Amino acid sequence: MTVPGIEHVAVVGAGTMGNGIAQVCATSGYRTTLIDVNAEAIERAKKTIAQSVTKLHSKGKISDEARDHALKGIQTSTDLSAAADADLVIEAATENKALKLQIFADLDRLCHANTILATNTSSISITEIAAATKRPQHVIGAHFMNPVPLMALVEIIRGYNTNHATLSTILEFTQSLGKTPVEAADYPGFISNRILCPMINEAIYCVMEGVGTPEAVDTVMRLGMNHPMGPLTLADFVGLDVVLAVMDVLYEGLGDPKYRACPLLRKMVAAGHLGKKSGRGFYVYNE
Ligand code: CAA
Repeated sequence: MTVPGIEHVAVVGAGTMGNGIAQVCATSGYRTTLIDVNAEAIERAKKTIAQSVTKLHSKGKISDEARDHALKGIQTSTDLSAAADADLVIEAATENKALKLQIFADLDRLCHANTILATNTSSISITEIAAATKRPQHVIGAHFMNPVPLMALVEIIRGYNTNHATLSTILEFTQSLGKTPVEAADYPGFISNRILCPMINEAIYCVMEGVGTPEAVDTVMRLGMNHPMGPLTLADFVGLDVVLAVMDVLYEGLGDPKYRACPLLRKMVAAGHLGKKSGRGFYVYNE
């Protein structure tokens, strides 16, 4: 069941998170528009969505109608103005503060006054993003987890001025996607990355200091703690650049040296070993 008042959802950014979010919006029955400045990114996103919904459909996890809606019903555009008549916009662009502030200022100008503007940021202050608009009461964080179609959690973050109506609409909306929303306060890293990224960072220290090989560290956490993926496999999957950016946000925002990024993480990012997306991180990936 879709949420009353939310008919059209626009997703800004067609990368891993954006295409996953657009997919679950479409399979849940929302009119969905996927926007990215890069037409190639949109084409890649369409292929990823097609593969994912075909797989989920073949396993009986989604209906024929949901699959068809995601395959044929998602509108795409390279122009942000395609979000103008959306009831809800979910921004999932690159994790870059200046870029997000610009997108929110533009969305604020383009969209009608009551449109809710949500951001999928994993670490940037919702209050700061909201301050780039003239509608901070309608701005909120909706942090989805990767891979979006499989992960049940959405972390919901109110900015300093987010009003209750916006919060309750987003809670209902994420539930309508089949997700479980959990509220977190607007502090660096919220709950998820405040815990996840220091754990990954510590795993990288273990490798740097020779406590264990990447395989050993991952096996300990998989078999010893029942994590579905070891922390270094997960780091490769999330992107080492993303992990580093979050560690820097935690370090700067909380001012505690315990959040300092591991020098090996910084070196690997500088070398372009970003994980799965670059073909090499702690492990090597062949297509
Ligand atoms: N759509 C549809 N199906 C998918 C899929 C997708 N996007 N991704 C994987 N699958 C399918 C696989 O193809 C596979 O299908 P088969 O069984 O038919 O082969 C099935 O799901 C299971 O996948 P795998 O066998 O590859 O692996 P798995 O059983 O370990 O499950 C996983 C995969 C759900 C990703 C699991 O490994 C997991 O939970 N990993 C941890 C993920 C995690 O921690 N995510 C959070 C990252 S942090 C984040 O997102 C926030 C941030 O800000 C950094």
